[in-house]
Amino acid sequence: MHLTPTLLALPAVVLEGSLAYPSRSDWVAEHVKRYDSFSDDLAQRLGSYQAPGPTDSRGPCPGLNTLANHGLINRNGKNLNSSDIKTAFPRAFGIAEDAIETALHNYEVVCEYIKGTTCGTAANDGTFILTNLTILGEPPAFEHDYSYSRQDYRQNWAHGGIADNIYFNSSEMQAGLNVVGYKRSNPPKVATASYQQFNEVRLQRESTQNQNDFPGWFQQNIPPTLFETGFIFGATFDRDSSGTMKESTPMARLDWWNFWFSEESFPTQLGWVPASTEVFNNQFCLSVSSAVLHASVSSTPKSLPAGATATTFPPPANLPEGDPSPTLALFQSPPYAAPTAPTATKTAAAAAKRAALPEPQASSLTLPASVSSIVASEVTARPSLIQAALQLAGSAPLRCKLYQQSIDTVTLKNQMAAAQSY
Ligand SMILES: *[C@@H]1O[C@H](CO)[C@@H](O)[C@H](O)[C@H]1NC(C)=O
Ligand SMILES: *[C@@H]1O[C@H](CO)[C@@H](O)[C@H](O)[C@H]1NC(C)=O
Ligand SMILES: *[C@@H]1O[C@H](CO)[C@@H](O)[C@H](O)[C@H]1NC(C)=O
Repeated sequence: MHLTPTLLALPAVVLEGSLAYPSRSDWVAEHVKRYDSFSDDLAQRLGSYQAPGPTDSRGPCPGLNTLANHGLINRNGKNLNSSDIKTAFPRAFGIAEDAIETALHNYEVVCEYIKGTTCGTAANDGTFILTNLTILGEPPAFEHDYSYSRQDYRQNWAHGGIADNIYFNSSEMQAGLNVVGYKRSNPPKVATASYQQFNEVRLQRESTQNQNDFPGWFQQNIPPTLFETGFIFGATFDRDSSGTMKESTPMARLDWWNFWFSEESFPTQLGWVPASTEVFNNQFCLSVSSAVLHASVSSTPKSLPAGATATTFPPPANLPEGDPSPTLALFQSPPYAAPTAPTATKTAAAAAKRAALPEPQASSLTLPASVSSIVASEVTARPSLIQAALQLAGSAPLRCKLYQQSIDTVTLKNQMAAAQSY
């Protein structure tokens, strides 16, 4: 098994029109020649954006969704071959293959553990076929709580349903951007965030969820979130036209990050080019993760889960493969698509039209009877359930330790058992 859930884990609301996107003609027509085997012509290297259709599959990972929207992996988001994923990430983001190996390895191990059967082909040689991008949102295989851009799976259970933990949610994203003072309705041309600021965004998100999620169900899951943060820094560090970092310490470009996540497309219109592969590798992601975790913050939000400000984690153990475990229901709705293709945001009229689009409604869920009855009884039994959940989860919520090709078996088993017993 070779693959990591971290990167991949991460729907739409108030669509804030942005007047600040420059037109497509402002694209960097070509970036400086580099020798990473991909075309210097960005249009060729990155393919063209096409919004997903109603039968296409998209998932919780903005990176994979972007690859599919640009046809760098199957546009329908189905039957994805691991070799294609491994090629597409470096081509699109300039990330080195070793970081993608980490992500893919962890993904497959966890996915098999949860499903009790191979998630890929029968071959156990490191290659696999991912059925579709949506299954990455099946908890707790790959998705995780307090994503920067998705709701938490159990956020709505107390109200009779699961939350959409799969598609981009602009309120969730804006809540993080608010922490660093970034306004999407009137974005500065260039805005960057430091390690410290990302740690503040993370802690704020943890704090909000710790207060809002159904008590005891919030799963603190720091390592994958941080690996993803490393990926975000790698994908968006401020760079010159050859993809080389401008400063000695990476600063994440918030305008690029916001565009990438909300459009699920590359922010080329904002001067972005893929990173230099020499910079953006596994070591980069891990060292950024660590730096973010260690960055001291200017203030600590109230009501944090225990351990939120810890800076070290016990080394995880390997997970046995093929250990069957039940799966949880997937959120079922059509894939999220950016309200307009990025090119259409170039005029004020287009931006106004985009801002006036109706808010997409989450489709109603069809839950299996077994799940509905559990939810119903949970709602009536709420006081005792909260008590039971707190007893199970304790004051320090259990967490998956998905990190670097391995996972803590005991913790994950306990977490699964706790989730099942709810
Ligand atoms: C987005 O998340 C917020 C909570 O932050 C929730 O109230 C809203 O319903 C979500 N929107 C969609 C479209 O799921
Ligand atoms: C993805 O695969 C899962 C599992 O087979 C299935 O339940 C789901 O409907 C699929 N979603 C899409 C959009 O293909
Ligand atoms: C993956 O798919 C590509 C074509 O898209 C094919 O060339 C390659 O052999 C496949 N690799 C595996 C391991 O199945």
